[in-house]
Amino acid sequence: MRLGGIFLLVALGSFTAYYIYEPIPEEIEERWKLMLTNSFFRTLSHLADFSELVGLKDYMGVMYFITLVEGVVPVSDERVQVTEETFDGVDVVLYQPKQLGSDSELRRAVIYLHGGGWCLGSSRMSPYDLLAREMVTELNAVVLSVEYRLAPAHHFPVPYEDVYRVVKHFLQRGVLAQYSVDPGRIAVSGDSAGGNLAAAVSQQLQQEPVQQVQLKAQALLYPVLQALDLNTPSYQQNRDMPILPRTLMVRFWSEYFTSDKAFFRAMMANAHNSPESASLLKFVNWSAFLPESYHRKYNYSAPAVVHGVGGEGAGMDGPSRSITDPRASPLLVPDATLRSLPKAYVLTCEYDVLRDDGMMYVTRLRGAGVEVTHEHYDTGFHGALMFTVWPTDFLIARRMTDNYVQWLKENL
Ligand SMILES: *[C@@H]1O[C@H](CO)[C@@H](O)[C@H](O)[C@H]1NC(C)=O
Ligand SMILES: *[C@@H]1O[C@H](CO)[C@@H](O)[C@H](O)[C@H]1NC(C)=O
Repeated sequence: MRLGGIFLLVALGSFTAYYIYEPIPEEIEERWKLMLTNSFFRTLSHLADFSELVGLKDYMGVMYFITLVEGVVPVSDERVQVTEETFDGVDVVLYQPKQLGSDSELRRAVIYLHGGGWCLGSSRMSPYDLLAREMVTELNAVVLSVEYRLAPAHHFPVPYEDVYRVVKHFLQRGVLAQYSVDPGRIAVSGDSAGGNLAAAVSQQLQQEPVQQVQLKAQALLYPVLQALDLNTPSYQQNRDMPILPRTLMVRFWSEYFTSDKAFFRAMMANAHNSPESASLLKFVNWSAFLPESYHRKYNYSAPAVVHGVGGEGAGMDGPSRSITDPRASPLLVPDATLRSLPKAYVLTCEYDVLRDDGMMYVTRLRGAGVEVTHEHYDTGFHGALMFTVWPTDFLIARRMTDNYVQWLKENL
């Protein structure tokens, strides 16, 4: 019996070690911590797959647990006043500096859009809550964290439109005055899918003919920027990298547009482009837009163009149409649209499927004459900035946050 117990323990231990161990590149700091952290994500993902398979709850419904685990109720503290408001029908969490004496100076503002693949995440998660407070105190800024609605319950363009409505509402002179915000010092920012929304909003806003107040800056943290080519060198290199393996990113993309699994399968095979998107492939040509050192080892071949892709939702209103929409894929606009964009900060990570999305945008923005600060983290992985809370706190998250806030300090 005792021997049996020991055997069981050893077997369990080996299984656990085998399960947790993953080949993570040597240069990534705190590798074991990352493996452990990622084993939580992988386990949840397996459970989510299983749950969907047996019809208990859909995949994203289970993955949403991540959001709940880190959930907080944002409350005021001695330096930051926090209120929950509704801007044009959309929930926002508003962080304001507490006034000190007769401080009548106008303040900066940051509109922040959380990540989570348009399907997960919330302003009310501790890493986002902490980041917002830090921006308030470091920048003496008002931070508006937008609680946009999520896919798959609300497919594109609902999450985008929620964000756009909030931004339009906030950028009215009367509203800005109410919060003592300087109309000349407002930035939009976000990480991952939030970076996608931030880039899209920046583009659309400057095309509004009657928009008086414009953004001063956009800060995009490992943003998602295009859905046409899901086999860029970074997608290939980082296929199984924590925290965002390629399968999960493809899943986010497909769920953003449709719940039709045929589209997910087409995207997995990178065979989801239709004749409608074919003419836009030139905007995501990584052979042309990536620095030489990043595409040298890979041979460019354009994604396949397939007729009638996208299952039942195919056609003018289906997902094949949505992937061509720059409000979903901001990389797909011509240079003329990029030219008048506000100055940009783009953060990319080496070990991230989305690295090349960010890098291509940097090349294209610079080519169009936009001022860009590009910070590339050679040892960075996707989502790193969010790992600021014990026990999943990483040194790199601290460095990233400091550099990002410093850029805002100097440029906003
Ligand atoms: C991509 O760029 C390369 C040159 O860098 C060019 O030869 C190729 O035709 C381009 N392909 C597309 C689809 O734009
Ligand atoms: C790219 O093409 C060259 C020449 O055809 C070939 O030698 C090389 O193995 C290819 N590389 C990859 C990564 O497929």
